[in-house]
Amino acid sequence: MSFDLKHLPRSFADLVIADPLNAAVIQQYCTQPPSKPLLLAGPPGAGKTEAARVIAQSYFANNNIQHMHWEHNGATLGKSYNDVIMSEANYQMFGNPDKALIVINEIDTFDLRAVQPVFRDFMDSKRHLIRFVATTNHKSSIMGALLSRFRVIDLDPPSNLDWVDRTKAILEAEGLHPTLGDVVQMLQNFHGSARDLIDLIEETVMTTQAAV
Ligand SMILES: Nc1ncnc2c1ncn2[C@@H]1O[C@H](COP(=O)(O)OP(=O)(O)OP(=O)(O)O)[C@@H](O)[C@H]1O
Ligand SMILES: [Mg+2]
Repeated sequence: MSFDLKHLPRSFADLVIADPLNAAVIQQYCTQPPSKPLLLAGPPGAGKTEAARVIAQSYFANNNIQHMHWEHNGATLGKSYNDVIMSEANYQMFGNPDKALIVINEIDTFDLRAVQPVFRDFMDSKRHLIRFVATTNHKSSIMGALLSRFRVIDLDPPSNLDWVDRTKAILEAEGLHPTLGDVVQMLQNFHGSARDLIDLIEETVMTTQAAV
């Protein structure tokens, strides 16, 4: 398995979320999700999709829900969202007294005129059956009435030092034993996104392994 896939966050504790208020909301969606649909907004690499996945996986695990295709992209779903989502929702609800959960990444790519208005109605009519978690890079491309159906969280990319604990945990999982000071030093000049960080950690592991 490739390094980045191996170290994807698996539980809330693995997520790095810069703002403690946002972290508290995401933690609540991981443990006892409110019925309000959740929209994670923010720039590329802020960790929106990973947070949405952890929320979904926690929900499935906590409620013992069987699932198949619960993660979608707005651009691929397009106008056919109804059939695709309902067949998954029915699958999840078989033998499950709680609602189904569906993740839609890049929900802003739903066509503004052709899809967003009807999807808004769809959300209302399936509210008693489906929990929605969505992500977007472009909140401004979402019609106001659709946006207002979500609890919106603006995720800022974590700063370099926010990553210290998570980086240390990944290095330790790879068999290294850095001190906190080592990790702080390693991240001192890092100012990229989560995507760049995982590459930096992989390089560090490879360099260290090559040196021993
Ligand atoms: N808490 C984390 N721990 C380790 N790696 C992480 C974490 N969060 C994100 N990543 C890494 O960063 C990558 C990017 O995160 P993610 O896909 O969630 O970003 P995004 O905000 O959805 O970006 P985009 O807007 O481009 O879809 C992940 O695939 C993963 O490799
Ligand atoms: Mg994403």
